[in-house]
Amino acid sequence: MKLSHRITNINGGGSDGWDVFLKARGMIAEGVAVTELTIGEHDIGTAAPILQEMHRSAMGGHTGYAMVPGINALRDTVAARVQARTGVPTTRDNVIITPGGQAALFAAHTAVCDSGDTALYVDPYYATYPGTIRAVGAVPQSVPALADNAFQPRAKDIAAAAEQGAASLLINSPNNPTGVVYSRDTLQGIADVCKAHDLWLISDEVYDTQVWDGEHISPRALPDMAERTLVVGSMSKSHAMTGSRCGWIVGPEEVIGNLVNLATNTTYGVPGYIQDAASFALNQGPEVEAEVAEPFRRRREKAMEVLAAQNTVTLVPAQGAMYLMLDIRATGQSGDDFANTLLDAHHIAVMPGESFGQAAAGHIRVAMTIDDDRFIAALKTLCAFAADLAKK
Ligand SMILES: Cc1ncc(COP(=O)(O)O)c(C=O)c1O
Repeated sequence: MKLSHRITNINGGGSDGWDVFLKARGMIAEGVAVTELTIGEHDIGTAAPILQEMHRSAMGGHTGYAMVPGINALRDTVAARVQARTGVPTTRDNVIITPGGQAALFAAHTAVCDSGDTALYVDPYYATYPGTIRAVGAVPQSVPALADNAFQPRAKDIAAAAEQGAASLLINSPNNPTGVVYSRDTLQGIADVCKAHDLWLISDEVYDTQVWDGEHISPRALPDMAERTLVVGSMSKSHAMTGSRCGWIVGPEEVIGNLVNLATNTTYGVPGYIQDAASFALNQGPEVEAEVAEPFRRRREKAMEVLAAQNTVTLVPAQGAMYLMLDIRATGQSGDDFANTLLDAHHIAVMPGESFGQAAAGHIRVAMTIDDDRFIAALKTLCAFAADLAKK
């Protein structure tokens, strides 16, 4: 039987960039001890008090269908948090709760792109972006953020892409995979292009609690941007709740109203006990978020010391998120070759930059998601391996 082009084309006919990761998982399944520095998953689980609240809620009977846009308590909490952080007036009518940030990305593009519309996104990009855009029937088009410009996208490049006609632009700061935090100038430039070309801005801010250098600015707070910006948020990274699948979109009331129709006809909402736990977790305040972020801050500091002691591997300024983007071009290898040979030689798995787009070619992404000692030992091995390659 024939399947739809839309579903068979989600990966665009190419690799989805997870080859090294899958090879590492295959080795682990065969009993090989692999140091995995690949995916964005904390090495801690969800904190016990959050799980206790989940349990209390479920035992209290919150196991039936929950309200489709989200329970009022969580929508109010998200709205208050966003308003407190950005100063933009926000109510529950600006918020829909989704099964994670990924579902929010899909819903946001569904809301603003018709079939065949061009949806812009920035390269390097989080691995699912082009697939998510194809899944809604839109056409992904990347705009490069170059290593030479510290991976900050330039307004003129976005404008050049938008001139050919586009419905939306997807950005992500703090950025996965580069760890770069977009500056106010970058964001103002993006906002100006969105207004000039009548683009919707979809701003993926799932790493907004992990900023080590500079400040996180939500573009929804820039002048005249609230009416054209959809902010994607999530409990996954801020509260180590990746498996709970709880995220949201913050945007104009009209968009949220339409997204409720989409949710009614697709996900039918998020479990009530998960939402109660999320609401509880957010109400614990920023100290809990800082605690969850702390291991990444600490490992980044230690990593910078290791990297400062050698001169083959260069760190892209790591200002936020749980990753380091390393420039390994001095080895003469591509990110793909380097990641594969490192895995074969030392059983250390990292993501090739090419998995995240051509702008990250010659780089590798290292997730800081294992305990400090193993992380630093693996980084030292990686640097020594790179130095040997560079000598050849
Ligand atoms: C940039 C970015 N956006 C969105 C997501 C999706 O997160 P979730 O669906 O767990 O909220 C991730 C996960 O790694 C991510 O890195």
